[in-house]
Amino acid sequence: MNKKAIITSALPYANGEIHLGHVASTYLPADVTTRFLKLNGVEAYYVCATDDYGTPILLQSEKEGKTPAEYVAHWNKRDYEDFTALNIGFDYFYKTSSSENIAFVQDVFQKLNDAGHIYEKEIIQFYCNNDKKFLPDRYVKGTCPDCKAEDQYSDLCESCGRVPEEIINPKCSICGQPPTKEKTKHYFFKLKNFGDSIFKWLDENEHLQKDVKKYVQNWIKSGLIDWDITRDISWGVPVPLDAAEGKVFYGWFDNHLAYISTAIKFLNDKGIDGKEFWNSADIYHFIGKDIVYHHFLFLPAMRLGINSEYKLPDYIPTRGHLTLQAKKISKSRNWYIGLKDFLKNYRADYLRYYLISINPYSQDDLNFDWNDFATRINSELIGNLGNFVNRALGFTKKTFDGIVPETESFDEKDTEAEQKIKSLATDVGLLLEQNHLDRALKKVMEFSSFFNQYFQHKEPWKKGPGTANCVFLSVNAARSMAIALFSFLPESAQKIWEQLGLSGKIDELTWSDMSELGIPSGHVLGNASPLFAKVEASDIEILKKQLGPSE
Ligand code: MF3
Ligand code: ZN
Repeated sequence: MNKKAIITSALPYANGEIHLGHVASTYLPADVTTRFLKLNGVEAYYVCATDDYGTPILLQSEKEGKTPAEYVAHWNKRDYEDFTALNIGFDYFYKTSSSENIAFVQDVFQKLNDAGHIYEKEIIQFYCNNDKKFLPDRYVKGTCPDCKAEDQYSDLCESCGRVPEEIINPKCSICGQPPTKEKTKHYFFKLKNFGDSIFKWLDENEHLQKDVKKYVQNWIKSGLIDWDITRDISWGVPVPLDAAEGKVFYGWFDNHLAYISTAIKFLNDKGIDGKEFWNSADIYHFIGKDIVYHHFLFLPAMRLGINSEYKLPDYIPTRGHLTLQAKKISKSRNWYIGLKDFLKNYRADYLRYYLISINPYSQDDLNFDWNDFATRINSELIGNLGNFVNRALGFTKKTFDGIVPETESFDEKDTEAEQKIKSLATDVGLLLEQNHLDRALKKVMEFSSFFNQYFQHKEPWKKGPGTANCVFLSVNAARSMAIALFSFLPESAQKIWEQLGLSGKIDELTWSDMSELGIPSGHVLGNASPLFAKVEASDIEILKKQLGPSE
């Protein structure tokens, strides 16, 4: 394992609240992975930022009568608070509109330009004579030429999902007047130059998901199109050329560069050489499948275009979308659950447990279902894990005054139990290294269920021979479980740790500590209390109505 890592997750648009869909596909998987790497002694940093530019944000700020800078500052703060409530442990959370990112983006552009990867081209754009503005992307609304849905954006029809070739009956979305068409000069990035080198990079990188690679390689084979990377609007990174007065970069030109500029800023501030660190670390970009194009083509092409001065990603874990009660999440139709609202009702670890359990390492979509959530929490988290920990600790308290007894020689069952503890770090670790977070968590649950059965089988309440061994091994198993769970359920893991009477924080330990019998005979446990409270069916019914859509 490389001893250095930088982890990023897709930067959230500073344009509305974080919901469960965001969390499931990127932020949570990235957080679990970072915690795991840190426990393995990797110097790992998880950095993120708000994605502050783009026409939707400018438009929305105008609607709300705020400056775009005020508007994005509001969401930057709010997003960070919401993530923190879920224990997403960013080492640094910054913004694409930072002075560091602006300077970095301009520098990258200059280098691409010097290397001949940029050209100018005149294009025809909608223009509003009333507002005296060019109208890119969302600034124009009209009827979709494909499905005839009215009131659709010129860059995306939300009804049929297509990008309209040319919207029918166009209207300026600020004043409603029909726009004219004017010539304007834009800058293009020669994505075409990079088809072969990206193809090769994909072939050589053995960490990327095979199906995603194939998909991208097919795009390359069918021919790449150069990218229009500028916009005639007032909110964005200014294009650093005299001839480009008033032009800014398209949001997808600057946003992913903030992965680098944010990491560098954070590391340099810590007194670490950021660039050196970036280039010797494993680089992870966690994303959802909707932004594969940008991360597998555009991002590597831009890094290759500046001679890989900053190395390309090693991992781009790509996951599917969350649906809600089997329907596509949609903010405009109010079919989503805000993270903040969810956490008013259930604590972070319930959500973390559920979303990790249902989330495979693939592009398959996953579904949030309220009843399934209740069942999994009640039967797995509480019925299996909570039950075991409470039983083992409670029994030790009651029968041995909370003092871990001396062992006798192990019988076959004890030896099997000891073996389970010894192999836990490897069993769970291998799956986490391969990004199979769901399967890794399942391994921990299987471990718990093994110990439930072991405890049942040993019948320690009869106080026969073997009782001391059963107690000794069970409290040690609870300790191992706490360490194994820490990446997934940090709060609950720490709670188990405290109930075991252990001091310090789990994040100060190392991963392999879970395979030690770390609690000696004579150790005094802390106070045991139930770790979790049942999810009530009646509450779920209320929440379905409250948080659900107003259809
Ligand atoms: N804000 C974009 C989205 O939500 C993601 C940007 S990821 C970045 O789709 F790296 F490119 F910034
Ligand atoms: Zn107008």
